[in-house]
This record gives sequence, C-alpha cells and structure tokens, in this order.
Amino acid sequence: MRIDRRQSNPAFGTRKLKLGTFQTNLDSGCVMSDLDGRLEITWPNTVALAKLAEEMAFEAIVPVARWRGFGGATNPQGPGFECYTWAAGIGALTTTPGVVSTSHIWASHPIIAAKQSAVIDHITNGRYILNIVTGWNQPETDMFARRMLGHEERYACAEEWLSIVRRLWTEDEEFDHEGTYYKIAKGYLQPKPIQAPYPAIMNAGASERGRHFAVKYCDLIFTVIRTGTIEEVRAHVQAYHALARDYGREVRVWTSVNIVQGETEQDARDFYDYYVRQKGDWAAAQNMMEVFAADVNQRNVPRERIKAMQEAFIQGWGGVPLVGTKEQIVDRLQTLSDAGLDGVLVAFPRYEAGMREFRDVTYPLVCQAGLRDEA
Ligand SMILES: Cc1cc2nc3c(=O)[nH]c(=O)nc-3n(C[C@H](O)[C@H](O)[C@H](O)COP(=O)(O)O)c2cc1C
Repeated sequence: MRIDRRQSNPAFGTRKLKLGTFQTNLDSGCVMSDLDGRLEITWPNTVALAKLAEEMAFEAIVPVARWRGFGGATNPQGPGFECYTWAAGIGALTTTPGVVSTSHIWASHPIIAAKQSAVIDHITNGRYILNIVTGWNQPETDMFARRMLGHEERYACAEEWLSIVRRLWTEDEEFDHEGTYYKIAKGYLQPKPIQAPYPAIMNAGASERGRHFAVKYCDLIFTVIRTGTIEEVRAHVQAYHALARDYGREVRVWTSVNIVQGETEQDARDFYDYYVRQKGDWAAAQNMMEVFAADVNQRNVPRERIKAMQEAFIQGWGGVPLVGTKEQIVDRLQTLSDAGLDGVLVAFPRYEAGMREFRDVTYPLVCQAGLRDEA
C-alpha cells in the first residue's frame, strides 16, 4: 500500500520546530575531542540515542556517510556504521521518527540506492528520508580507486543519479536510460516505496551550484548557520525559499546545533573550553580541513579562517554552538525558529548523557515555549 508522504513522514509534519539527531552512526558523534563520555560507536549505543530521540518525538535521525576517519589522536568518524544498513536497523527498532540514509552518489549505483531506500521505506512504513551527498573527501574516493569528479560535475552526476532513482520509484513500465554517467537497460523496481509520490529527499548543497540542486530537486535542505544576528539568519533561510520559488517549489530548511549546557553560563563556557581547547583533537581537525578546503571542492577558504573553522568542527561538526544554561539554550532554539528554520538537529559533546539531560530538563521548556506545538 502507498501512503501520501505528508501523512507518513514526520519530516513533513506541522510542529513549529522539528528536531533530530546528527551523526549518531559514527564514533565520537559530532565532536573531535579526547573527551570521556563521547559517543563510542556500538550498536547498543546508537540504538539508545535513537530511542531517546523517539521518546521526545524527534522528526529525523540523520547519519553521516563516512568511509574513513581523520586520524589525529582519536580518529574521529573512523569507526562507524554504513548508512543504509544502519537506517534499516534503526527503522526496525523505532516506530515514529523519520529515519535517514545518507548516500554518496559516487559510492552507490542509483539502482542499489533506489532499491535499498525502498526496503527502508517499507521497514519504517513511510518514515524514510534519502539524504544525497555529492562528496568532498578525496581520501574516501581514493580508497575506492574512484576518480573524484570536479565540484560542478558532481552535481551534474547527482542530477542524473536522482532522476534514475525517481523513475525507479515511480514508473511501473520498465525503462532504458543512456546518459553521461549511467546506462540502464530495462530499469525495474518493485515493490515501490511506501511513500507517494516518492520518499522525502534531503540535501545540504551550499555552493551556488549546490543550492540550485537542493531547491530544485529536494524537500529538506540542510544549511550551516554561521553565528550572526537573527536578521542575518532569516535572510540566509529566506534566500533558499526565494530560490525554491523560482523553480515553483516549497522547501523546508534545517540546521544543526551543538548543545553545551551548564548550571550557569560560566560552567557551560568552562566545559566548552575543556573539551575543545584542552582536549580537542586539533591534529584530526587539521587533517580534516586540508581535505575539506582542497582546491577540488572550490570552497576558497581564506587562510585566516582556518583556525576558526577547525574549532567549529572540533566543538560540534560545524553546528551552531549553543553554550549556556537551559533557559539560554531554549532561547537560542526559539531564535532559530523565529528566523524561519523548520528544524534543528541537536548534538551534544557527551551525546547520550546530553540527550538524557535534554529529555529531563530542557525539552519540557522547549515544549513550554510552544516550539513543539502545531504551527
Ligand atoms: C547537515 C549536513 C550533513 C552532511 N552530511 C554529509 C555526509 O554525510 N557525507 C559527506 O560526505 N558530506 C556531507 N555533508 C557535506 C555536503 O554534502 C556538501 O559537501 C557541503 O554542504 C558543501 O556543499 P557544496 O557541495 O555545494 O559545496 C553534509 C553537510 C551538512 C551541512
């Protein structure tokens, strides 16, 4: 049976601020730090985080596609679970949250991606979300002995990849395809996914080319918010909506935050200083930045920004740092919602302890603030 995805997938729900978790499939979670209590990737640990997300009716559980880590003292994101198989397991063990698989287009043939996605959509009864990433991490493509496409070409390939995936999900007649990157003979896929017309699609395109891809083809857009005024954040979010409307589309824009909560603001700041400045894995962050800022990714990172970006990745993989008391954390979430963000992925330096504290102490205040009401 097929179900309208607006009914089955909580990512399309009407709560004012949707919530999710991020990178709970990888060792260290979102931090690069020799911090005790950071996520140690085992199946029971990743399931515990999914169950906590479910207890708070989170809308999305988002993994990161990573094939090798960044070295240094802790090799963050090295050990980890592959996204499709992880999502299948998480989907089977939960009943309400949206479950995401993140897919590198270069690593999965579109027939495999469409087929695996359909299985997870059946397991979750229509809660599945496909997150498409074009890739930027050359040591990963080297490991597969694959040629890394240039930045613009990656998106051309992504367009063709996604058009094949969508045809497999939606067309009952077999079809042939002969494109630049793929050739399909008698393309066939049954059963179709549960979600109609097809599963939710997510993307985090940030470059000009990436933004056009995201708004033209995807439903949920992830964006990195550099700290700024509410007006700046609002303008940043609105720019995605304006671009989407040029294509006659509506999109939802999400970001990620990293929550560092203390009894007092000073306690929270001291803890940030401890796990980032004293315990941070700066060698791993340096390795990561070299790959991230490589010419092939066309990011043009100014030299003087590199240290600050390393810190942003160490503290919470680029998520907005929310450092303070529970009231301050809720205030900041309120501001992000007021700025037009539809959803926020939350991470914590000590992921499981952080999620428990959030459930017991902070989440009730998030609800009191009306952020979990129907919009
Ligand atoms: C929330 C979020 C999740 C992402 N997940 C992944 C991932 O799992 N694997 C990956 O290789 N890149 C990931 N990326 C990077 C993006 O795919 C992309 O390279 C980046 O946003 C830059 O966009 P651009 O390609 O338009 O320059 C993620 C980015 C964001 C903001």
